[in-house]
Amino acid sequence: MKVLRLGDLILRRQAEAVQEVNDEIRALIADMFVDLDRERGIGLAAPQVGKSIRLFVIKVDDNIERVFINPQIIGTSQEMVLYEEGCLSIPKVWEKILRPSGVTVQALNERGRPFTLEADGLLARVIQHEYDHLNGILFIDRAKPEVREKVETAFAEKARKEAEWAAAKQETEKTGRKKG
Ligand code: NI
Repeated sequence: MKVLRLGDLILRRQAEAVQEVNDEIRALIADMFVDLDRERGIGLAAPQVGKSIRLFVIKVDDNIERVFINPQIIGTSQEMVLYEEGCLSIPKVWEKILRPSGVTVQALNERGRPFTLEADGLLARVIQHEYDHLNGILFIDRAKPEVREKVETAFAEKARKEAEWAAAKQETEKTGRKKG
């Protein structure tokens, strides 16, 4: 599946709860892990692949595939930490973001069974980042406003140029004419 980029409105939507954890959901999860490996990411939320549902997958350093369906963060630590984040939907941008160092999360696994997980370190960081995606929040929203604005402007400009390029290419194919 294609990973959507900043500027796509699906990324800004409040995702819907998963109604039933069935084979269709499990197939989506399997595809999302393929995407995660291909993109060398550590977390991917369903809205990033165009599915506006409350589901994300994580695979950090320990290589364990973790699935979170309809997650809820039920607790956060007092301690806050700054840590550099990136996002598959915002390539080549890295910013230090302040978040609680630990979280407790409740969710369903890929068999529809509920679990509770207490996480800290990188895992806690990724859970919070992916959880945000389900609420239409991107990590740049948690950076300084001028950083967010700069990144959004750059991506809008890039999207505009890509659209122009695609239109020009189509025109060339249609007319058979080539420009120098
Ligand atoms: Ni992300």
